[in-house]
Amino acid sequence: MGRMPTDIGAIRRLARLPRDVRGSRHRPSRDARRRLGMLFYEPNPGLRQELIETGALVLRPPTSEVDVSSSALAAAERVRSAYRLAAAEAEEHPETNPSGQWKILIEKSYGELFRALQGDDHLVLATTFERMFAARTTTGLSMGGELGYLSNQGGRDFYHDWWLDGLYCLASYLGILPETMETGQSPIATVPAFEALYRAVVERLGTRPDFPAVCGAWGLEFHGVPTPRTSWRHLHSAHAMLDETKSLALPRIVEVGAGFGGVAYWIQRLRPEAVEYVTYDFPIVNAIAGYFLLRALPDRLVVLTGERPQPGKPQIAVLPNWRVFQEPDFGTDMAFNQDSLPEMPREVAVRYLELFDRIVRIGFYSENQEDAHRWDPSDVTSAQPRLPDLEVAMKRLRRTSRSRAWMRRGYFETLYRPRLESKSLVAAGETQP
Ligand SMILES: C[S@@+](CC[C@H](N)C(=O)[O-])C[C@H]1O[C@@H](n2cnc3c(N)ncnc32)[C@H](O)[C@@H]1O
Repeated sequence: MGRMPTDIGAIRRLARLPRDVRGSRHRPSRDARRRLGMLFYEPNPGLRQELIETGALVLRPPTSEVDVSSSALAAAERVRSAYRLAAAEAEEHPETNPSGQWKILIEKSYGELFRALQGDDHLVLATTFERMFAARTTTGLSMGGELGYLSNQGGRDFYHDWWLDGLYCLASYLGILPETMETGQSPIATVPAFEALYRAVVERLGTRPDFPAVCGAWGLEFHGVPTPRTSWRHLHSAHAMLDETKSLALPRIVEVGAGFGGVAYWIQRLRPEAVEYVTYDFPIVNAIAGYFLLRALPDRLVVLTGERPQPGKPQIAVLPNWRVFQEPDFGTDMAFNQDSLPEMPREVAVRYLELFDRIVRIGFYSENQEDAHRWDPSDVTSAQPRLPDLEVAMKRLRRTSRSRAWMRRGYFETLYRPRLESKSLVAAGETQP
């Protein structure tokens, strides 16, 4: 028999976790093995337990208790107006209505939110939003989609390990995590070492990773600072894009498929009042993002559908998906898409790539999986598109870097930049290279 693969050792150690993580005969269950495969670093249940027992790491569980403030009511009113305008405008753009797997997901899971938006009761709407991360309202988006991990002890342990793993990945991306060659083991084995790493991450980011206590947000608190697991990856993407645009006084970034607006939020936290960030998504998803951003960033300029845009000013604009096609040629510095293009029908994804090709000055940054998963097992044509198979749709942009993603297994980070000759034409003032 050859050498045992290293991850067998990790599975063995996991098998010493509490009883409900184990499958029969002390083998980890299939779920536990699948979850283990989501981690980059071998989990350390001893350290996890110590962090919990010393009170450094505390689960802030989702709660359905809601206290609706006057600012929550005001945000709900603004979001309802924006949603209604967008829903009316959508009728003129039937070709951009949700299709494929998002059509099905929205029809199946977003009924309560639709009804609250269509009704006239602000309190009902604000209450729905105020607990959305702890409810099915945000199905398909992160946090809401991760609630299942909390249903038993094994899942909760995993959520802690995954959160710790996310911090290690971010620290590694920032260049501050020494790690062993080949095996990728983290050398962080004690609470003080973990605390020192956390402090170094905060210092390098220039901001604490505290997620606002709005919309039923939940996650782990480290010494009282709450961060959902999903924020580690949103922080990474925000940081990567700010890195690409750091020479600009006021970069303009366009994101398609922004979910609840996690990256938009961290962009504003990492570089306050210095980015024009525009997200485009379906009206119902924009209602989620618009509400979250209004509540999370009450002092910042957040522009919703129907509100006066303020071009050239630091802001976040949350706009309906069809409007992205009105973006002017070379009018934006970066285009961004995360965990979204493969969830669109192929022709829709191609239309967005052609658009990015036309509008960006610096480039298009993608963080997407390439599983080619059939979301409808009975239909071969439902296989999700893979970016490498679609990128030929871009004529001006070419792939300049591609790597495995820092924060998620099975994901890829790809940057497309204008070809040199098209860059010089733009610089010379030509409109169409
Ligand atoms: C899995 S969520 C990811 C959200 C976010 N990018 C993240 O990583 O947290 C997929 C996102 O793509 C959006 N989306 C799907 N089809 C779209 C389309 N045709 N146009 C714009 N957005 C779309 C969904 O509404 C949703 O916000």
